[in-house]
Amino acid sequence: DLHSSDTETVEREPDGLILIGKEDDIKKSQRITAKVNGREVVVFYHEGKFHAMDSRCYHEGGPLCLGEIEDINGQACIICPWHKYRITLETGEGLYEGINPLEPSPTPQWQSKGVKQRIHKVTIDNGNVYVSPPDLSVSFDSDYFADKYKNSGGLAM
Ligand code: FES
Repeated sequence: DLHSSDTETVEREPDGLILIGKEDDIKKSQRITAKVNGREVVVFYHEGKFHAMDSRCYHEGGPLCLGEIEDINGQACIICPWHKYRITLETGEGLYEGINPLEPSPTPQWQSKGVKQRIHKVTIDNGNVYVSPPDLSVSFDSDYFADKYKNSGGLAM
């Protein structure tokens, strides 16, 4: 059998995953944009964890890769630079500050609008960072802008 060579050390990409970059490089830069099946995706390295999401904000397509990260009730959120929408890095939920007018002294509370931004699965293997191809059988609000900006020139960081 010509194919059975146990000593071969060929570097292989894990099946079907898209290579984003070197783990060390992204840890240093803290963020990187990449194309995943044509769509703009941003990978953040924040407080010891990698997170990937569509780079174009679900609201009107703002560049999340240029946003700042803020902690809201223990959840790391990216703040869209265009209209300051907050999106959790972990789940892609849109957060909003709402008040309950029925309370005696209403104070704004952060609440979730549900998952709005498509999150991408990150895999670290052998010092490389990979993102899984999106499962398009499920849709998210950010898909509209991911499609709109598909195969465009990409974003300056
Ligand atoms: Fe992101 Fe409006 S485009 S908040």
